[in-house]
Formats: sequence, C-alpha cells, structure tokens
Amino acid sequence: MHDAWLERWQQGHTGWHESAGNRNLKKYWRANGKRVLVPMCGKTPDMLWLEEQGNEVVGVELSEIAAQAFFDEHGLKYERSNGALVEYRAMERRITLHCGDYFKFRDAGFDAQYDRGALVALPANTRPRYAQHTSSLLASNAEQFVITVEYDQAVCEGPPFSVGASEIHNYWPRLNRVAAIDDIENAPPKFLEAGLDVMHEVVWRTS
Ligand SMILES: C[S@@+](CC[C@H](N)C(=O)[O-])C[C@H]1O[C@@H](n2cnc3c(N)ncnc32)[C@H](O)[C@@H]1O
Repeated sequence: MHDAWLERWQQGHTGWHESAGNRNLKKYWRANGKRVLVPMCGKTPDMLWLEEQGNEVVGVELSEIAAQAFFDEHGLKYERSNGALVEYRAMERRITLHCGDYFKFRDAGFDAQYDRGALVALPANTRPRYAQHTSSLLASNAEQFVITVEYDQAVCEGPPFSVGASEIHNYWPRLNRVAAIDDIENAPPKFLEAGLDVMHEVVWRTS
C-alpha cells in the first residue's frame, strides 16, 4: 500500500490535490490558536491557510516528494533532519512536516485535527486503526474537522472511499455533520466514467 502511494507521488498522479485549497475548510473552520495535526497531508496549501489563522501546523506524510514540493512551491525555507520520521521544519512559519508512516508517528496533545483525504483514502479494514491512532495523538477536548465523501459504492469503488455517518460516530461521537455539498464535478474521472452522478463532500466538526 505504501509503495502505491509513493509511486503516485513519483509519477505525479496526485489527482486529489486541490491547488487552491479546500473551500469548505475556509468556510467552516473555527479553531484558531491551536496546534493542528494534519494526518496524511500531501502537499495541501490548507496547511499554509491554517497557519495564517494563527495555528501551529504539524503534517505527517509518507512521501518526501510531497514535503519538498510543499515547501518549494510556496517559497518556504526549511530545515531537514533525520529522526524516527524525517522532519521538515519551516524556518519562518510555524509548520513542520514529518515524513514516514503515520502509524509510526508519535507525539501528543494536539488540540486540533484537520483531515481531508486521509480517512477516506484508507480501505475499510484500515480506518478503525487510523481513527484509534489519531485519537491517541489528540487531547480529549481537541477540535476535530474531518472532511469525508459519500456516494454509492455499488456504482464505483474508492479511493476515495465513501464513509457514512454511523462509521464516523463510531470513531468520534463528538463530531457533528455541519455540511454536505454535492461535489460531483470534482469526482475522480473513474467515478464519472462509471456513471456516478452524485457525490457529496461532507464536513464533520466538533461543536
Ligand atoms: C488522497 S491523498 C490526500 C492528501 C492531502 N490530505 C490532501 O488533501 O491533499 C492521501 C495522502 O496520504 C499519504 N499516505 C498514505 N498512507 C500514508 C501513511 N501510512 N502515512 C503517511 N501518509 C500516508 C499519501 O502519500 C497521500 O499523500
């Protein structure tokens, strides 16, 4: 599974990437002055936006290609250092990316989480482990902001996988469904080719 993601980065097959960032993050995010965990962050510019809102941002990503691209594309100077995971620390911004397997990432006390494209990137048998590991990194009263997609998986298969309300409430009972927007125009081409005509992007948030 790791090899498949690393290969996508090597070949530039990163169709999930939103170069202008996520519109629903900007519309619904309310937590500022936090230390925000961004699991499986890719090179999303959402990390810059979150930092600009007064947060410290810590991303975790398998691919060093993604981390380097994030810093280079935004003209950010960084220091790279080896540890259990390879660390990329911005010199002038409060952003750090850790490169390696998220399940090996250890830290504690994050008081916010931003997930877009992480939970839904994982198959059903891996998602409980992801949720459990994420919870172990978060303070008990952490603000959580999770974006999922919902569509008919009988028509086509993920990733991104459709993750419904009961599954989310199983992992994180404090999350509320605050928005569901039809996002079929941004669905992967394979979904459109299979005939899918509705895909909701759903925003889950604590409080
Ligand atoms: C669908 S992309 C989403 C990236 C980003 N969140 C975004 O919205 O653009 C999923 C990302 O998770 C990364 N990834 C997959 N498995 C991982 C793991 N075990 N540890 C860390 N990153 C992982 C992949 O390399 C990929 O960049």
